[in-house]
Amino acid sequence: MSTFSRSLSHKQRALTVSSPRLFDKSVSSPRFSSRKSEVSRLFRVLIAIGSVVSFFLAIGGGYLYVLPNLTKAFHEENLVSFNGSDSFCDIFDGKWVVDNSYPLYNASECPFVEKGFNCLDNGRTNNDYLKWRWKPRNCEIPRVDVHNVLEILRNKRIVFVGDSMSRTQWESLICLLMTGVRDKGSVYEVNGNKITKVIRFLGVKFSSFNLTVEFYRSVFLVQHTWSSKYGIKRVRSTLKLDKLDDISNEWTNADVLIFNSGQWWVPGKLFGVGCYFQVNNTLRLGMSIQTAFRTALETWSSWIDTKINPNRTRVFFRTFEPSHWSNLTLRLCNVTNQPLSETNGQESSSFSDAVLQVAHSMRVPVNVLHITPMSAFRKDAHVGLWSDNPSLSDCSHWCLPGVPDLWNEMVFSYLYGSYRHTPLHQQREFNSLD
Ligand SMILES: *[C@@H]1O[C@H](CO)[C@@H](O)[C@H](O)[C@H]1NC(C)=O
Ligand SMILES: *[C@@H]1O[C@H](CO)[C@@H](O)[C@H](O)[C@H]1NC(C)=O
Ligand SMILES: *[C@@H]1O[C@H](CO)[C@@H](O)[C@H](O)[C@H]1NC(C)=O
Ligand SMILES: *[C@@H]1O[C@H](CO)[C@@H](O)[C@H](O)[C@H]1NC(C)=O
Ligand SMILES: *[C@@H]1O[C@H](CO)[C@@H](O)[C@H](O)[C@H]1NC(C)=O
Ligand SMILES: *[C@@H]1O[C@H](CO)[C@@H](O)[C@H](O)[C@H]1NC(C)=O
Ligand SMILES: *[C@@H]1O[C@H](CO)[C@@H](O)[C@H](O)[C@H]1NC(C)=O
Repeated sequence: MSTFSRSLSHKQRALTVSSPRLFDKSVSSPRFSSRKSEVSRLFRVLIAIGSVVSFFLAIGGGYLYVLPNLTKAFHEENLVSFNGSDSFCDIFDGKWVVDNSYPLYNASECPFVEKGFNCLDNGRTNNDYLKWRWKPRNCEIPRVDVHNVLEILRNKRIVFVGDSMSRTQWESLICLLMTGVRDKGSVYEVNGNKITKVIRFLGVKFSSFNLTVEFYRSVFLVQHTWSSKYGIKRVRSTLKLDKLDDISNEWTNADVLIFNSGQWWVPGKLFGVGCYFQVNNTLRLGMSIQTAFRTALETWSSWIDTKINPNRTRVFFRTFEPSHWSNLTLRLCNVTNQPLSETNGQESSSFSDAVLQVAHSMRVPVNVLHITPMSAFRKDAHVGLWSDNPSLSDCSHWCLPGVPDLWNEMVFSYLYGSYRHTPLHQQREFNSLD
């Protein structure tokens, strides 16, 4: 479609950033890493501006929208020059760096963080885990201005669909946005419901902005049916891999759709409770979980391609969230104080690979939030024993504030660029000024 995306592998396709040459140099210079000096602070400002612009240029290349004003200002001041498509920034390839300006909110002041994820409030004393920022190798993820983001989200509907990891990201996104809302009482759950682990729908309205942020619990994305019609004793229910969840018609009119699935596709949560797969009304007793997941994803992708209007809806799929059990069977979990220095093979996952592959061949553009590698480092960021059930340690879920905030910063950056509605040819004109 454009020179920006042509040379990308499908793994990088999701959210990529073209990175001016200057970034590459300054990022690796010692001056840049000494965050205390004034010079480096200035550098950071310039680099932040530059990366906002380059981020949106790349997004614009793929999705036809860019941020015109900043782009223009940026070129007028002639800070750095772009050189077309020869350098790229894969925002999912990077490292965690200490940043004492984090966390971005206080969970105890946000009513939408569920008790189980508020680790500080549940007694975690070491708070080093809160002070990390994700730094892509060749660029920066722009620090999001919550007021600007709230403005571009006015009158919109953001919908999260998935499992408890999706609920965490939903909570994080609400809390991030609430830091920009003075009257906290103007933000409320539409049915007055409390957050629970099994609730199927939660919708939080930001009434001053006519913005709703919704969560639909659909752990497999496809239809789950209790059934004994097969007359096989161990088959108590089936997943209809060729039918999307029956609440899916609630998702179609969203402006932003953010999906995930994966954590429930394990033997214990399927065969262990008598749940088997079904395709085209036929029971598939021998089908592997990987094949079933792939089949469900294909059902999801054809649903997106037929039901979603890409002019209206921005679609994201978040890849698998690594867990850090020492021994899952024994539920041994040892949360560290610092991130790991190695991903220990957890940077990839067959679930993530399936998502990347399926998303690659869709009509509707899907932004794959390939957060598997970045999250794989964060053994320090799980709820551990600081949850609502201190008798069971948990190395799957994440503390809030924490890692899901960084996933949302990526979403915001993308949306901020996407909603600026400037056609690609105008962006090209700006780009050709240098
Ligand atoms: C810009 O990119 C082209 C092709 O990728 C390369 O040949 C050229 O040397 C680059 N120019 C600069 C100034 O880096
Ligand atoms: C978060 O807010 C609570 C309640 O206002 C306060 O007691 C606590 O000290 C704050 N925590 C941090 C880390 O600022
Ligand atoms: C609020 O947003 C919805 C779309 O989410 C829109 O249909 C409705 O007209 C908006 N209401 C007002 C008062 O703007
Ligand atoms: C579904 O089942 C029907 C009847 O059993 C069969 O005719 C049809 O070809 C099957 N479709 C697929 C896609 O397998
Ligand atoms: C999306 O917008 C383009 C350009 O305005 C238009 O040609 C196309 O028909 C629209 N697609 C849908 C599904 O509305
Ligand atoms: C976990 O513990 C069980 C029971 O002791 C043992 O059989 C299994 O090998 C352990 N798994 C790993 C990955 O260490
Ligand atoms: C937990 O990790 C710490 C440091 O990484 C290590 O010293 C300790 O032995 C570990 N405990 C268990 C039960 O693995």
